[in-house]
Amino acid sequence: MSQGNILDPEALREYSFRVWNFKQGEMVSLMIHLGDRLGLYQVLAGAGPVTPAELAAKTGLQERWLLEWLRGQAAAQLVDYHAPDRFELTLAGAAVLADEEGSLAFAAGAFTGGTPPETADRLAEAFRSGIGLSYEELGPNAAHRTDRMLGTWVRLALVPQIIPALDGVHEKLEQGATVADVGCGAGTALVAMAEAYPKSKFVGYDPNTHAIERAQQVLDEKGLSNVELHIAGGEALPSEATFDFLITFDCIHDMPHPERVITSIRNAIAPDGTWLIKDIRSHPRFEDNLSHPLLAMFYGFSVSACMSSALSEPDGAGLGTLGFNPEVAEKMVREAGFTSFIPHDFDDPANLYYEVRP
Ligand SMILES: C[S@@+](CC[C@H](N)C(=O)[O-])C[C@H]1O[C@@H](n2cnc3c(N)ncnc32)[C@H](O)[C@@H]1O
Repeated sequence: MSQGNILDPEALREYSFRVWNFKQGEMVSLMIHLGDRLGLYQVLAGAGPVTPAELAAKTGLQERWLLEWLRGQAAAQLVDYHAPDRFELTLAGAAVLADEEGSLAFAAGAFTGGTPPETADRLAEAFRSGIGLSYEELGPNAAHRTDRMLGTWVRLALVPQIIPALDGVHEKLEQGATVADVGCGAGTALVAMAEAYPKSKFVGYDPNTHAIERAQQVLDEKGLSNVELHIAGGEALPSEATFDFLITFDCIHDMPHPERVITSIRNAIAPDGTWLIKDIRSHPRFEDNLSHPLLAMFYGFSVSACMSSALSEPDGAGLGTLGFNPEVAEKMVREAGFTSFIPHDFDDPANLYYEVRP
């Protein structure tokens, strides 16, 4: 119903609060980043109710700064406040903010700093030119953020939960298979698989030099010799049937030419091979996604990274964060000549998985 020309004061108040709430989110995001970066959540985890002075003694940081930060965390309901001067990170808080190695719910890694002003300038320009920024152009900080935001689930669930649910894949990897990770980013999946399956050989492809440098650093640190990395897109896969197992995690919707990469995958996969796709959990119709409480965040990711990358070449497909939904995925995969497409729901809150075979 039209409101005509009369401004309803209550509607104004509500709308204004909604907007400032996002500014509050920006500020709290910076505070989470600082807590993560300074190791504060790790110190608070399991420590019970602590005073700022105790936190200062444990961390060597300045008490006055910690008091202000803790009061802000309490105001955001991220720590519990016990009057007059104690603050406590709950078990749930520790799982989400402190336990990067052990908790599937860990999220603090998504808060590795804000968007640099130069990137915002480039994005504004992209609205005029239509051409977005590739992951390469987003720089090393974005590669680091992507890795820490997406890495936890891969590290904790891929080997113990996901691979065993695929038909025959675990057995092949144990015996010694040839495996590709296309759009491997900083290599978390490669590392997890290479450690678990030492007889198999792994090849990672990604055009983003920042991510590949990070992956190489981790491989060197861990001394893993069964992984090879290529600074190249999925278009550069070998043209003969090579891979027993191939994964694309959270990246088809970022690609300017996903159809070319899917065709390359079809050629590069062994006749009895498996392609595992992980992509964002979404419905084909916008209306059906509207009930998702974090939908606006996903569109923010899309404009600032996923769709931007997928439009970083003049005739890019521009699928974006929510664009490779089950319907689109099945259609594109079948058009490329794959005949088997099995969706899996592993209770990953952000993603669905598709087991695809020639
Ligand atoms: C959101 S990141 C996901 C990285 C990694 N798979 C993960 O789960 O952490 C998307 C990646 O897709 C890569 N990408 C973009 N276009 C690509 C292409 N044509 N071929 C392979 N990777 C591509 C980007 O460089 C970026 O590293």
